[in-house]
Amino acid sequence: MAKITAGVATSHVPAIGAAIDLGKTQEPYWAPLFEGYEFAKQWIAEEKPDVILLVYNDHASAFSMDFVPTFAIGCAEKFEPADEGWGPRPVPTVEGHPRLASHLAQSVIQQDFDLTIVNKMDVDHGLTVPLSLMFGQPDAWPCKVIPIAVNVVLFPPPSGRRCYELGKALRKAVDSFDEDLNVQIWGTGGMSHQLQGPRAGLINQEFDKEFLEKIVNNPEELSRKPHIDYVREAGSEGIELVMWLIMRGALNPEVIEKKRFYHVPASNTAVGHLVLENKE
Ligand code: DHB
Ligand code: FE
Repeated sequence: MAKITAGVATSHVPAIGAAIDLGKTQEPYWAPLFEGYEFAKQWIAEEKPDVILLVYNDHASAFSMDFVPTFAIGCAEKFEPADEGWGPRPVPTVEGHPRLASHLAQSVIQQDFDLTIVNKMDVDHGLTVPLSLMFGQPDAWPCKVIPIAVNVVLFPPPSGRRCYELGKALRKAVDSFDEDLNVQIWGTGGMSHQLQGPRAGLINQEFDKEFLEKIVNNPEELSRKPHIDYVREAGSEGIELVMWLIMRGALNPEVIEKKRFYHVPASNTAVGHLVLENKE
């Protein structure tokens, strides 16, 4: 049977992707950030997941403002890196897992979550930057990836509670898949940042650190945080953090924390990163 063995959380700032692509990771501004991912890179080389359920948000790249699904699942064979204005990132094509993705759609929709099925889309920095942080610059990504896109760019976003429950539904769906697969789930985006308006540049370290603690050890309580609190405390783009709750909902109530990392700033954003293993 397929099994979710671990969860990873990470921010997804586009400038991190540019630093990797342009060979700047050892520059003084970037080196401390990339150092924080060294553990995870070694860890994942040993874990060798077969498939990653990669929860991320599209930034008006694949979904124009003409149509914005709240939750969407990528069921395609492959996903190309999106052109976000400077040409597509020089990273490998993302290979999907259509059979598992279709099973997840079937199971999760029948558990009353309305996923939009996507059979063709490009994936932007929200998905490719986390892959680069975890895997570096391989010729091909070492595993399959099922993109799970969440709307956090156009009001209203889904609640943290809804995201947490979706995680639980995904867990059930994976548990009932008939092939032996080592599956990881990643929650990406965040932490505190605001890219627009009078509060642009906002960072809230106190909020972020409490979030990191609660998502590991008290996700039930954290899942009840209203969306307005994210926007008020963590900035308009801090709402990306609700995606981490999908990851957490798919893990056991108790997890083993293998890594916690926090770094300010990367571009305009506070970077947070976790590696969590499912306790047996
Ligand atoms: C930045 C952060 C984001 O989450 C994003 O989507 C775009 C830019 C930034 O900090 O520059
Ligand atoms: Fe973003």
